[in-house]
Amino acid sequence: MKKTNYMGLQLDNPIIVAAGPWSRDGSSILRCFESGAGAVVTESIVSDAILDVRPRIAYNGSGAENIRLYSDVQIEGWEREMEIAKSGGGKVIASVSAHTPSEMAYLTAKLQKFGADAIEISISNPYMESLEVMASDAERVYRVTREVVSNVDIPVAVKLSQNTTNIMEVAKAAKDAGASAVSAINTVRAILGVDLEDRKPVLGTYGGYSGAPIRPLGLASVASIAQSVDIPISGIGGVTNYREALEYIMLGATTVQVGTTMMIEGPQAVRKIVEGVEAWCSHRGIESIDEIRGSALNNLRSFEEMKIEPAISTVGSTRCTDDCSKCMQVCLYDAISKQEGKITVDQKLCTGCGLCTFICPSRKLKLNW
Ligand SMILES: Cc1cc2nc3c(=O)[nH]c(=O)nc-3n(C[C@H](O)[C@H](O)[C@H](O)COP(=O)(O)O)c2cc1C
Repeated sequence: MKKTNYMGLQLDNPIIVAAGPWSRDGSSILRCFESGAGAVVTESIVSDAILDVRPRIAYNGSGAENIRLYSDVQIEGWEREMEIAKSGGGKVIASVSAHTPSEMAYLTAKLQKFGADAIEISISNPYMESLEVMASDAERVYRVTREVVSNVDIPVAVKLSQNTTNIMEVAKAAKDAGASAVSAINTVRAILGVDLEDRKPVLGTYGGYSGAPIRPLGLASVASIAQSVDIPISGIGGVTNYREALEYIMLGATTVQVGTTMMIEGPQAVRKIVEGVEAWCSHRGIESIDEIRGSALNNLRSFEEMKIEPAISTVGSTRCTDDCSKCMQVCLYDAISKQEGKITVDQKLCTGCGLCTFICPSRKLKLNW
C-alpha cells in the first residue's frame, strides 16, 4: 500500500500508537514500533514531571479508566529518550501538555531540537479541570496553538476532547491558528464504577474513559469535524481491530490511533490492525487509504434529512430455526411472532424502528431504508 501522508510526514501506514504510558520513554517507544505502526505518539511531556498517584489505571474487560499523569521523564531527559526512540527509524510525534501558551511553546521548541518529527498538543485531560476548560475554549486553543506553531518548524496537531459543547468550533480554532491536523478524541470524563461494600468509586476520583465503549463517541467526533473543518484528522478512541480503524477512515480520518488495545494486548494486537487494514485494502485493489477516506460521509445525513415516514420491514416472514426469541422480546410494537420455525412481521404493526435487525444473532431480519 502507498504511504500515508499525515501532516507532511510520510507514514508506512495510517495506524499510530496513541499517547500513553506504553510510550513513556525511548525504549517503550521502540517496543511500540514492534507493532509496525506508522508512527508513535509519546506519553504527554510536561515541564515539571510529577509523582504519580496510586492506583491510576482500572479496567473492566471492555473499557479502562485512568488518572495516569504525564511522562515522568523530565524535559531535558527527552534528549536521550528521543534519540533512543528514533534509533529504529520510525516517526515519533511528541505529545506535550502545559497550562500556558508560553510553557507549551518552550516544551515544543525543545522537543523539535531533540528530533521529534511532529508535535501533538494535549489540551484535554478529563481529570484535570483546568485543561478541560481549555479544551472547550476555542479562543484559548487558538492562542496556545498559535504560540506553538510560530515557535517550531515541524507539523503541529491539536488533540481535542469530546467533553466540550462544540468540538467543531475548537477544531476550527486549531486550524485557524495554523495546526496541521487535529486528533480526536482524548479519554472521556468518567467513573468506571463504585465498590458497594467500600462505597468507593473506582480510582477514588474522576478519570478518563478509554477503550471500545468510547468508539461511538470518537467516530461521531471525527465525522462532525470532517464535515465542517477542512483539516487532516487523526481518529482515536476504542479501536480494537482493523475494521474499526477503517470505520474511522471512512468517516474522514487520515490516520487512526490505538491506545487501550496497545496497553491491554501489546504490540501484536496493533500489528494485527496494521496488517488487517492492508489486507482489506489489497483484496479490493485499494492502493492508497486516500481512496476510501471519508467515503461513508456521503451516507451520513443530518437528522433533518432523514426520512420521517416509517420504513417497512422487507421481511414479511422468514424461516428461523434458532432457539431464541430475542426479536419478539425486543419488539416494542408487538409486530413479530413465530410459529413452526417461521418468523412473521406484521406489516401493519411494524413501524420500522429497526431494533430487531440489530438484535437478531443471525441477522435474518432486514429493514428496507
Ligand atoms: C493509561 C492511559 C494514559 C494516557 N495518557 C495520555 C497522555 O499522556 N496524553 C494524551 O494525550 N493522551 C493520553 N491518553 C489517551 C489516549 O492517547 C487516547 O486518546 C485514549 O485512550 C482513547 O483511545 P483508546 O480508546 O484507543 O485508548 C492515555 C490513555 C490511557 C488509557
